[in-house]
Amino acid sequence: MASTLRLDTIKALIEHANTIADVGCDHAIIAKYCIDSGLAEKVIASDISDKCLDKARKLLGDNNRVDFKRCDGLDYICDEAVIAGMGGLLIKRILLNARSLPKTLIVCPHRDCDEVRKTLLSLGYGITDDIDITERAKFYSVIRAKFGEGERDLDELQLLFGINVKIPNTTLQARLNKLYDMYMIAPRQNEDKLRTVIAAMSLQGMKH
Ligand SMILES: C[S@@+](CC[C@H](N)C(=O)[O-])C[C@H]1O[C@@H](n2cnc3c(N)ncnc32)[C@H](O)[C@@H]1O
Repeated sequence: MASTLRLDTIKALIEHANTIADVGCDHAIIAKYCIDSGLAEKVIASDISDKCLDKARKLLGDNNRVDFKRCDGLDYICDEAVIAGMGGLLIKRILLNARSLPKTLIVCPHRDCDEVRKTLLSLGYGITDDIDITERAKFYSVIRAKFGEGERDLDELQLLFGINVKIPNTTLQARLNKLYDMYMIAPRQNEDKLRTVIAAMSLQGMKH
């Protein structure tokens, strides 16, 4: 898989740590980056699927700084973990069932980011970075959270649209426009969602 804005944004948030895990690694591009860049002394490439771990082994080869683990979620100890490319509810479950929580997490859910932000806060993390990106007509939040650091007191709109919802940002504005158009197809059924989108649009100085 070629480099993408989503993966590049995730990579840019990774900090040096002794052990970094790429949870649900699939192709293991993140794990490889952590090894090649020297950001990690040791990398754990883990996935629930044997087929995906085979892809990871192919990319990373035989390296005594890499451990491959077939497991559900975070069933091991690490200092920092990247959990990306899954739905927010799955990431939430992985965090709530983790054997041990790392000090730093970088998460990029496909959807339900609010559930992930709420879960991070409930587990004692604060959010230090929350970046909106768009790639192939999809919108993503790339979130870095640290245990006991960062923003912990988020309001409803920050939980839904990110900690920077009050700072004008064209990517977020495009996302809000898309949500607005989608919810306006059935405004009565989407009344509550429309209320939050319109409130966020107003914070962004947008007209609707
Ligand atoms: C779409 S890929 C994402 C790959 C990469 N992390 C990325 O962001 O590009 C999702 C991966 O998560 C793995 N996965 C799904 N559920 C999992 C779980 N409960 N524990 C570990 N890995 C899981 C899948 O097997 C798949 O390889």
